[in-house]
Amino acid sequence: MIFLDDVTFGYGKRPVLQNATLKIAADERVAILGGSGEGKTTILKLVLRLIRPDSGRVSIDGTDITEMAEEELREIRRKFSIVFQEGALFDSLSVKENVAFCLREFSKMTEEQIDAKVRELLRVVGVEAAINLMPDELSGGMHRRVAIARSLAAFEPKMFLYDEATTGLDPVNAERICHLINELCKEGTGLIIVTHKVIDALRVAGRFLFLLNGRIVFDGNKDALLGSDNPAIVEFLNEFRYEVK
Ligand SMILES: Nc1ncnc2c1ncn2[C@@H]1O[C@H](COP(=O)(O)OP(=O)(O)OP(=O)(O)O)[C@@H](O)[C@H]1O
Ligand SMILES: [Mg+2]
Repeated sequence: MIFLDDVTFGYGKRPVLQNATLKIAADERVAILGGSGEGKTTILKLVLRLIRPDSGRVSIDGTDITEMAEEELREIRRKFSIVFQEGALFDSLSVKENVAFCLREFSKMTEEQIDAKVRELLRVVGVEAAINLMPDELSGGMHRRVAIARSLAAFEPKMFLYDEATTGLDPVNAERICHLINELCKEGTGLIIVTHKVIDALRVAGRFLFLLNGRIVFDGNKDALLGSDNPAIVEFLNEFRYEVK
């Protein structure tokens, strides 16, 4: 479904990704791992064509979106549910208004229908009681749940994209969010989780990519990842081994 074909991209002169080729099927559960600044978020932005590659092509479901116009991209982006890394909620809007935002924007639902849908989504992620709170009144875990509820609104996503969905959460809440991610990702639906927390990647993904110096230096399953002798991966995994001790 996702095809990055020999993609190179940089902000300015320094390349962030170099000749990255990557195919992800619609029902795969993939984790993109790597240190800070290695280009993990950049890959998600390329998939959504929020940025355009300097060279190479990006295709979604066989459609080349590299040069696609914004109006057409809307249709492509609707295939994905996205939880972004940075401040996923609008601070000045209540939980209800945050979740309702996409429904108002993209659907023709009445106020009553929107209210019912918001409550349903908040129930799915387990924070219905927070409906009238403002974002700064929420704990980290609740904040993430509301962000996930908002990402589910209005769409029937074919694939879930999570950028650091568990970063900054305590271990118990991180595990709960992983559980929620697994529950939401029904049979036949895929996901990409971008994270530097190996333990959470292992909870939700079956295929692992590792980014280093602008390149995908590893692509394999859990056993291959845990058995890798690439020094950068070994060092990266040490954090995880430390966590489970
Ligand atoms: N809008 C931008 N303008 C300029 N440089 C950027 C921009 N966004 C990201 N970068 C740079 O591109 C590189 C890759 O960024 P990216 O956000 O993809 O990293 P990441 O792997 O997601 O890191 P993190 O784990 O910290 O989220 C970094 O060096 C970053 O500083
Ligand atoms: Mg990032």
